[in-house]
Amino acid sequence: MKILVTGGTGYIGSHTLVELVAAGYEAVVIDDLSNSQRESLTRVEEITGAKFPFYGGDVRDKVLLEKIFREHEIDAVIHFAGLKAVGESVTNPLRYYDVNVGSSVALLECMKDAGVRKIVFSSSATVYGDPEELPLRERSRAGVGLANPYGRTKWMIEEILCDLAFSDNSWKIIALRYFNPVGAHESGKIGEEPNGIPNNLFPYLVRVASGRLPKLRVFGGNYDTPDGSGVRDYLHVTDLARGHVSALDHLEKTVGMEIFNLGTGKGTSVLEAIHIFEKATGKKVPYEIAPRRPGDVASCYAEVSLAKEVLGWQATHSLEEACRDMWKFESRLTKNAEN
Ligand code: NAD
Ligand code: UFG
Repeated sequence: MKILVTGGTGYIGSHTLVELVAAGYEAVVIDDLSNSQRESLTRVEEITGAKFPFYGGDVRDKVLLEKIFREHEIDAVIHFAGLKAVGESVTNPLRYYDVNVGSSVALLECMKDAGVRKIVFSSSATVYGDPEELPLRERSRAGVGLANPYGRTKWMIEEILCDLAFSDNSWKIIALRYFNPVGAHESGKIGEEPNGIPNNLFPYLVRVASGRLPKLRVFGGNYDTPDGSGVRDYLHVTDLARGHVSALDHLEKTVGMEIFNLGTGKGTSVLEAIHIFEKATGKKVPYEIAPRRPGDVASCYAEVSLAKEVLGWQATHSLEEACRDMWKFESRLTKNAEN
């Protein structure tokens, strides 16, 4: 089975390529390298021994997509490509609607023309907005009161996919709502390398631990949580990557569209996360309590039984393992920078 992976050189895409190869899938990659480097594919090729046809370009470019569908017999698509910086989506919403929604529509049109009707889409727990209940179930309220345009693009794309599935029952669609992916491949060869100063907790925390940044700011110390800091569901990126393989394996049985949470089901606070990282790596993380970050919710974690029952998937890695793997990746980066 040959899978077109959009955004395949990115953080989750590159880890998913590793797991696709392990599961016997072939993959073709398209990425415009707007938030990743070609080199990550070389590293995936080192890890797996496989080679991936690579198309450097934009998923909104339908001529390029048509060429890919002509040149390869694609069975299904995993659509990771998109922009994900929440703050930037607030200052530049049109770019987010254009890239995220526009690329999805262009991709679906080309898939339709090419007779490819199976897709796994990267959605996000952000579609739940301020949680109506915890843990969050797939049936929990979604799409209401979303705090930013990024989240709205994810919700809009889910709605588009739902309409598409309703219009033509030959489509087989799975939207995966990721909670908070963290970690790196156990080899330390691939991991998360955000451009500029990271927004997300773990990429920032790791850089503080390695001395690249001076201090972590804990956004909010007075939430209604056990220790006052924000609670999230952090899952190892390898588990998340394997979730895509389980989704692909299940697609054949999918009728219309299905939605699954991918998380661990366990909430961890920012202060606990710091402690777990320090214990797992032996590194200190200087921090201070800072004001709340606008748009943040107090707690967000998944109910994960649906993915377990239907996809046969569950997270198996601990946050300690994720911390050790992130540290391995960071150590390689800082060593390479010194040489
Ligand atoms: P990433 O930025 O590392 O990967 C996205 C990739 O898509 C990048 O390599 C980028 O260059 C590419 N890309 C962006 N726009 C493109 C376009 N128009 N055409 C071709 N390539 C394009 O991000 P990631 O963390 O790997 O996230 C992958 C997907 O998962 C995204 O859709 C993201 O919104 C979603 N997601 C991520 C998280 C998270 O915390 N990382 C959480 C929920 C959902
Ligand atoms: N945090 C800090 N200091 C930082 C960064 C984050 O205290 O420097 C806190 C946040 O306030 C929050 C927690 O760490 O309590 C996690 O924040 P992240 O930015 O790492 O993650 P979010 O849950 O805010 O959002 C992420 C992605 C979204 C995605 C969502 C759900 O950024 O795109 O997970 O998957 F939608």
